[in-house]
Amino acid sequence: MEVSARDRSAFPRGPFPQIAFMGASNVGKSSLINRLVNVRRLARTSKTPGRTRAIDFYLVNRKLYFVDLPGYGYAKVPDGIRAAWKRLVESYLQGDPGPDLGILLVDVRRGPRPQDLQLLEWLASRRLENCVVLTKTDKLSRNRVDQSARQAARELGLPAEAGPLAVSAETGDGIPSLWNVIDRACAARRSHTLEPPTPGGGGIFVAGGAESPASAERTRPGRDRS
Ligand code: GTP
Ligand code: MG
Repeated sequence: MEVSARDRSAFPRGPFPQIAFMGASNVGKSSLINRLVNVRRLARTSKTPGRTRAIDFYLVNRKLYFVDLPGYGYAKVPDGIRAAWKRLVESYLQGDPGPDLGILLVDVRRGPRPQDLQLLEWLASRRLENCVVLTKTDKLSRNRVDQSARQAARELGLPAEAGPLAVSAETGDGIPSLWNVIDRACAARRSHTLEPPTPGGGGIFVAGGAESPASAERTRPGRDRS
């Protein structure tokens, strides 16, 4: 690993594009990073959710960073740690340079959570390039995966042509397509100009703390956008 950052001073800078992997705890962020680079134990994976507390940066082929963000939504995390997570992740996502692409992972069996939708809207409001990936497709039949992809696209308000990719870290399903998306984001970096984040633009998750499952239900944003 290149850097395990617990505060913003440790975030790497420099010319390499940064690809951020985000999503609920246990969706398979670290496993997907390992599969993409074909190294079994590069990123730490765990059967115990909510383990990762730092942001881990992996320099791949001296070309780009894969950024493994700690997962959210794990109910047993104490409030203090939840607040620290939020500060750390927001300071990274809003920082300079920040990610060139945010890959939002959703468990294909569970579908999107309210926090996924909030995070996606937050990324979009900051013009951060993003894509949604359904993970663990090996757990379902192809039919059920397609069904889940359509459902997730509806819930997240994605246009039909930009539906989620479906991947499996276990079998390698969908990995070449995901690499294509990553390649495009790296190429785009050379031609786009970064917009500064809007000051005081609010947090990733809406005020009132949608991070606990109960309050997340209450603050669930409208799902029937068309
Ligand atoms: P946190 O760091 O806690 O947020 O979790 P994470 O999102 O990094 O998940 P991680 O990669 O550690 O995987 C969690 C569990 O899911 C592990 O037991 C993995 O073996 C399993 N897993 C991850 N990806 C896949 C997959 O594609 N297929 C299957 N069957 N299991 C997977
Ligand atoms: Mg992890």
